[in-house]
Amino acid sequence: MKLSQAFAALIIAWFADLGCIQAASFEVKEGNSTCIKAQLSATFSITYNTSTGTRTASVSLPDSATLDEDSSSCGAANSSSWMVALFGPGHTLGLRFSTNGSLYSVANLTLQYNLSDTAIFPDANSSGVITVASPSVGIWATINTTYRCVRPSTFGVGDEAVTFSNMTLQAYMAGNDLSPTESVCTADTASTAAPPTTAGTTTTAAPAPTPPGTPERGTYSVTNSNGTACLLAQMGLQLNVSYFSLSQNKTVRELVNLTPNLTRSSGSCDASSASLVMSQGESTTLNFTFTLNATSSKYHLSGITLLANWSDSAAPFSASNSSLDYLRSTLGRSYMCNAEQTLVVVPTFSVNTFRLQVQPFNVTTTQFATAEECQVDQDQMLIPIIVGAALAGLVLIVLIAYLIGRKRSHAGYQTI
Ligand SMILES: *[C@@H]1O[C@H](CO)[C@@H](O)[C@H](O)[C@H]1NC(C)=O
Ligand SMILES: *[C@@H]1O[C@H](CO)[C@@H](O)[C@H](O)[C@H]1NC(C)=O
Ligand SMILES: *[C@@H]1O[C@H](CO)[C@@H](O)[C@H](O)[C@H]1NC(C)=O
Ligand SMILES: *[C@@H]1O[C@H](CO)[C@@H](O)[C@H](O)[C@H]1NC(C)=O
Ligand SMILES: *[C@@H]1O[C@H](CO)[C@@H](O)[C@H](O)[C@H]1NC(C)=O
Ligand SMILES: *[C@@H]1O[C@H](CO)[C@@H](O)[C@H](O)[C@H]1NC(C)=O
Ligand SMILES: *[C@@H]1O[C@H](CO)[C@@H](O)[C@H](O)[C@H]1NC(C)=O
Ligand SMILES: *[C@@H]1O[C@H](CO)[C@@H](O)[C@H](O)[C@H]1NC(C)=O
Ligand SMILES: *[C@@H]1O[C@H](CO)[C@@H](O)[C@H](O)[C@H]1NC(C)=O
Ligand SMILES: *[C@@H]1O[C@H](CO)[C@@H](O)[C@H](O)[C@H]1NC(C)=O
Ligand SMILES: *[C@@H]1O[C@H](CO)[C@@H](O)[C@H](O)[C@H]1NC(C)=O
Ligand SMILES: *[C@@H]1O[C@H](CO)[C@@H](O)[C@H](O)[C@H]1NC(C)=O
Repeated sequence: MKLSQAFAALIIAWFADLGCIQAASFEVKEGNSTCIKAQLSATFSITYNTSTGTRTASVSLPDSATLDEDSSSCGAANSSSWMVALFGPGHTLGLRFSTNGSLYSVANLTLQYNLSDTAIFPDANSSGVITVASPSVGIWATINTTYRCVRPSTFGVGDEAVTFSNMTLQAYMAGNDLSPTESVCTADTASTAAPPTTAGTTTTAAPAPTPPGTPERGTYSVTNSNGTACLLAQMGLQLNVSYFSLSQNKTVRELVNLTPNLTRSSGSCDASSASLVMSQGESTTLNFTFTLNATSSKYHLSGITLLANWSDSAAPFSASNSSLDYLRSTLGRSYMCNAEQTLVVVPTFSVNTFRLQVQPFNVTTTQFATAEECQVDQDQMLIPIIVGAALAGLVLIVLIAYLIGRKRSHAGYQTI
């Protein structure tokens, strides 16, 4: 699931870069007045069962998606309103908005998909419509402003993932046009800019408040359906996240270490991609996607996604980048880096790795294959070699000087 999710985000990023992204537009009206207007791109990563295992379908919200007039509604003043988009037979994306008078937010994100649609879900071993929903996704804005989020943000909905990008919307509209005042999402704002106001969202565990020091090294693995390990990893992980802190009433940079004994690992392994999902409690989910290039027999870390729901954060934090190129190594080898490495994901989020060794492909035993070391480690290994060589050279020079000196003094004695 995570691969295609990452892949979808990659495609989005690619189109966004080209500036030719297409977005679907929706308008919910009651009588002559508009209450919700939205323009957005969305991709869905949906995992389903086939007779031979699970498979992930990556679906984009087509531009031709239409508003489901029957399910969409403006609701009464200050109560919830629904915007439901229809795409294909039995597939819908629903956003329920709620407000408390000063803020509005998406209070329910619903994805409904029809497994009977064999064009999207080939070989599905069950049929019928599945509905998944998530109560709070961190899409919120000040009332009478337009919510804008250009960067892709991924939200977990049930076991599926929804990635929005190039999103512009407003609910509880005062007029029939979008407000020129914008509430820009945290993913888009630089680390210094604060979001418009604070929103209380449902949250769970909090990150450590003080700088946490070097993280403990954890051992993570992914097993395939027949129970054998297919991805091995050992590393200390530290998240460097910028978010709006409720307690400090400003955007803060926080370092959060993953605690290995509180972190579960899962994931999936395919022929050309492997994903490692590390979940610390319910609040933090970090996902690494590795991609193999079969032609060159090289693999690399191509995608990192973080979903974090910390109690001090004004809104759940979500960041994703699927066009990364880190930890590059050769098929059949593991990648190792003892030195600290910083993997920048987006401007507001990076991962620091410590004492890392991974092998995402060709795992045949529970042991790592021969390691390819990162350049920093090789350079650091060079230092003792250089020092040793310098010492050896020094010894040699002293020795030669001594021998020459001895010869000279012999010669001296002889002349006397
Ligand atoms: C909508 O607008 C039309 C003309 O502008 C008007 O005749 C009609 O009464 C309006 N309907 C409502 C429900 O306001
Ligand atoms: C796939 O099958 C497993 C095991 O039967 C089940 O728990 C899971 O809900 C199924 N997933 C879907 C999407 O149907
Ligand atoms: C579908 O496949 C999953 C796993 O592959 C299996 O657990 C489940 O029982 C299957 N369901 C049906 C209805 O065949
Ligand atoms: C689901 O898809 C099948 C096949 O395309 C279609 O016959 C069925 O009507 C769809 N279900 C719904 C609820 O639209
Ligand atoms: C979200 O809305 C759907 C559709 O109305 C509903 O079935 C689901 O229970 C709601 N979920 C939450 C968490 O509110
Ligand atoms: C939003 O705009 C409407 C119409 O301009 C106004 O009546 C309302 O008081 C505004 N609400 C807030 C919270 O500013
Ligand atoms: C709306 O909710 C936000 C966040 O929980 C809070 O700061 C604000 O005071 C609330 N506004 C009203 C009018 O209740
Ligand atoms: C099961 O394990 C063997 C090696 O033990 C491997 O070759 C095979 O691909 C695995 N099957 C699946 C479905 O992963
Ligand atoms: C965290 O990220 C910020 C911004 O990129 C950077 O200035 C800072 O040095 C980083 N801190 C650590 C400990 O990596
Ligand atoms: C947060 O900071 C803003 C401006 O910096 C200020 O207007 C607001 O009152 C502060 N809120 C709290 C709860 O301290
Ligand atoms: C996790 O490890 C730390 C230090 O090794 C220990 O203090 C703590 O009790 C452990 N927690 C659990 C839940 O095992
Ligand atoms: C795989 O590697 C080959 C040879 O280095 C390169 O030409 C090709 O573009 C790569 N493919 C991908 C998808 O990166």
